[in-house]
Amino acid sequence: MKEYAKLVIDGKELTLPVIEGSQGEKAIDIRKLRQETGYITYDPGFGNTGTCRSTITYMDGEKGILRYRGIPIEVLAERSTFVETAFLLITGKLPTRDELTKTSVYLNDFSPIHENMKAFYQNYPPKAHPMGILSAMVNAMRSFYPELIDIEEEMNKTYLRLISKIRTMAAMAYRISKGERVVYPRPDLCYCANFLNMMFDNVVIPYKVDEDVVRALNVFWILHADHEQNCSTTAVRVVGSGKVNIYATISAGISALWGPLHGGANQAVINMFERIHNDGLTIKECLAKAKDKNDPFRLMGFGHRVYKTYDPRAIIMKKMVDVILPKLKRRDPLLDIARRLEEAALEDSYFKDKNLYPNVDFYSGIALRAMGIPTNMFTVMFAIGRLPGWIAQWKEDVADPEMKISRPRQIYTGTKLQEYIPIDER
Ligand code: ACO
Repeated sequence: MKEYAKLVIDGKELTLPVIEGSQGEKAIDIRKLRQETGYITYDPGFGNTGTCRSTITYMDGEKGILRYRGIPIEVLAERSTFVETAFLLITGKLPTRDELTKTSVYLNDFSPIHENMKAFYQNYPPKAHPMGILSAMVNAMRSFYPELIDIEEEMNKTYLRLISKIRTMAAMAYRISKGERVVYPRPDLCYCANFLNMMFDNVVIPYKVDEDVVRALNVFWILHADHEQNCSTTAVRVVGSGKVNIYATISAGISALWGPLHGGANQAVINMFERIHNDGLTIKECLAKAKDKNDPFRLMGFGHRVYKTYDPRAIIMKKMVDVILPKLKRRDPLLDIARRLEEAALEDSYFKDKNLYPNVDFYSGIALRAMGIPTNMFTVMFAIGRLPGWIAQWKEDVADPEMKISRPRQIYTGTKLQEYIPIDER
């Protein structure tokens, strides 16, 4: 039976349809609200606003559930690879063996980047942040590899071209920033091993692929592959809704991800641990700063708009850190700080009362450090992982007959009418 919600405004009753998702989540369809009443809704940060119907990712923030296309994140982290998960997100199904092979062939074919693009890197100042470079390079790809939006097969190739080249571009940015020779992709290596090799191979010490690190990187990227309508994905959908090309759209997603409240949190978390480790900030002082409303400091890697319990990705990441560090015979003093900080925060009534738990970024930096990834590349690592999700969401958006250009309204609170005073009379 169809459900409705009733709204009474100015003595007038309005009947609004209720939409129900496949997991029982309900929404009030307010599309006719302004037209029929003259009112709009007010929801800064969109905490109560559904902006689309989606079949890609399901999250339950109260129960700590995350599924891609219905498959629990825990299962994918244990059994899948990043490439297989990317295929699942973008196409909606797990690949057959043939499809996976074909995907890998394309990923290999597309892995080098146009030699002229290399020149861009060389002109960046040495301290340029790799996220700024990556966003610009992805945007620039449009000029080198224009997409053919009306041909499905060509668009499928464009998705794979993006997924393949982003890792080459990221590794290249790192090498050039260090003044080191660029390492080209190798056809004999899988997606993750290829990235690690391009990052770390050296004429003096050739990079030895370690299967534990490769597996850890697969898991890391699977955990980041999608997260429904977060800040960067919303940026992708909003920018894409203007029908701009996919490269510019993904570039906007990368820019949105860069912020410390979003993907940039993984770098900010490590900076926070380092402050505790190097600058003598105690755990107690750190928590006090986070609780002080007059201090802009926040406990980085804690809290989430949707999760009001443990972020399931944080649980997997923490377990992975516990396994990979001993396997690689690495000790990281920051891990001990992370554990103590987590324990103290979880016992503190401020964090308990506000349901603030570790999010994916709390342990991800420690995992990346164990793999040898430098701190300023952390958010780039997140971006590579999130790319399949952005593509899947963009693809869903452009195919959705209900989608319109994103154009919210506002409540104007400025001066009603003002006289223009000529400059000499002001
Ligand atoms: N440290 C201290 N206090 C916090 C924290 C934190 N990390 N997170 C939330 N709070 C407090 C807020 O001050 C607020 O308190 P109030 O109700 O007394 O004003 C309350 O908890 C709710 O916080 P909001 O900022 O309103 O929650 P919102 O959903 O808007 O923000 C966010 C979520 C941005 C993730 C926030 O928890 C935060 O800043 N966390 C730290 C940054 C971080 O780890 N970001 C990564 C998120 S995961 C990701 O994007 C991949």
